Amino acid sequence: MSLLQPQLPDRLKSMSDEDVHALIAASKAKLGDRCVILGHHYQRDEVIRHADHTGDSLKLARIARELERTPYIVFCGVHFMAETADILTSPAQEVSLPDLQAGCDMADMAETWDVEAAWDEAMAALATKERDAGKENRIVPVTYINSKASLKAFVGNHGGTICTSGNARAVIEWALARGEHLFFFPDQHLGRNICKAMGFDPETDMILWDPKKPLGGHTTEKIRAARIWLWQGHCPVHALFTLHQIKKIRAESPETRIIVHPECAMEVVDAADLSGSTEQIIRAIESSPEGSRWAVGTEKHLVERLAASHPDKVITSLNPYTCLCGTMNRISARHLAWVLDDLVQGRPMRNRITVDEKTAAASRVALDRMFTLN
Ligand code: 13P
Ligand code: SF4
Repeated sequence: MSLLQPQLPDRLKSMSDEDVHALIAASKAKLGDRCVILGHHYQRDEVIRHADHTGDSLKLARIARELERTPYIVFCGVHFMAETADILTSPAQEVSLPDLQAGCDMADMAETWDVEAAWDEAMAALATKERDAGKENRIVPVTYINSKASLKAFVGNHGGTICTSGNARAVIEWALARGEHLFFFPDQHLGRNICKAMGFDPETDMILWDPKKPLGGHTTEKIRAARIWLWQGHCPVHALFTLHQIKKIRAESPETRIIVHPECAMEVVDAADLSGSTEQIIRAIESSPEGSRWAVGTEKHLVERLAASHPDKVITSLNPYTCLCGTMNRISARHLAWVLDDLVQGRPMRNRITVDEKTAAASRVALDRMFTLN
């Protein structure tokens, strides 16, 4: 999702970096507890240093939900995270995304109308006497939180829920205990990696649903036989980590441990020592002994920050050419200064992200299900 971002005022564009940071600090002091800045781990250092809370998508969603008395939330992350914060807060609270072009390429790979069409096709493929008799709960839809609010509403309206990379296993176990089939959106890799870790066979138990093809590219028999249907979406950033890179590190530095995000391809996750959300990656590295060596398969700003904050450990990116989430990194300190300064001047909140109440209500159903699971 990419919205039109207004130009920053010339005054801010020409300000020195130091003055920008001073303006942010002064604005924060003036706003006090009326404003909270949330920062995802992939944000630039110049932004994350001003965050009141940092975290992965799960942690930040939990924090947003608890900020009941904070009128202004500035979300330094991507669009779906700001939407989720708006869904989880009251209409009196306002959420801003400092650069409206900070979208998520993966979230854009599952348009809700495509999902609705696929759902109808899948239901038709499963049509049996039981379903005709009203047994509707045979497919449980789960969307990764990296998705549009309308898709979250869709799963909420169809008995499903939402997961993050930090809780995906508990959520998928819940879905598979409830339904005969799991329809998982939009990240095929997260779905495949978690289901494989649960003992499902990627060849026989899972199919990849291509939204551009009728019936996702499968026969009715194949759809009926597979327990898990994975939407054909992926993260272009995590696609840059490969098995070849892992083999090279294993050959050159066998003592180096390899930890990757579960948005990486299955062969990469299988060959790594560990996989987990950004928060889980941080915890694993923090708790490792002095002198540990790590190769990390996730976005470059987090890897560089980990390396800088743990000089007693050797921390490098699994991909030597580094992997950058270009949309996440659209937000700069200047954008943050702009949003905060406008609030201080008493102007309406810049770049407000709002989800209409009907969509928000259905999305909340799905998110509340997720929060009760973990
Ligand atoms: P986390 O759940 O680890 O925050 O990951 C979100 C994300 O967008 C990773 O690409
Ligand atoms: Fe989306 Fe990938 Fe960027 Fe995460 S790293 S926000 S999944 S494009």
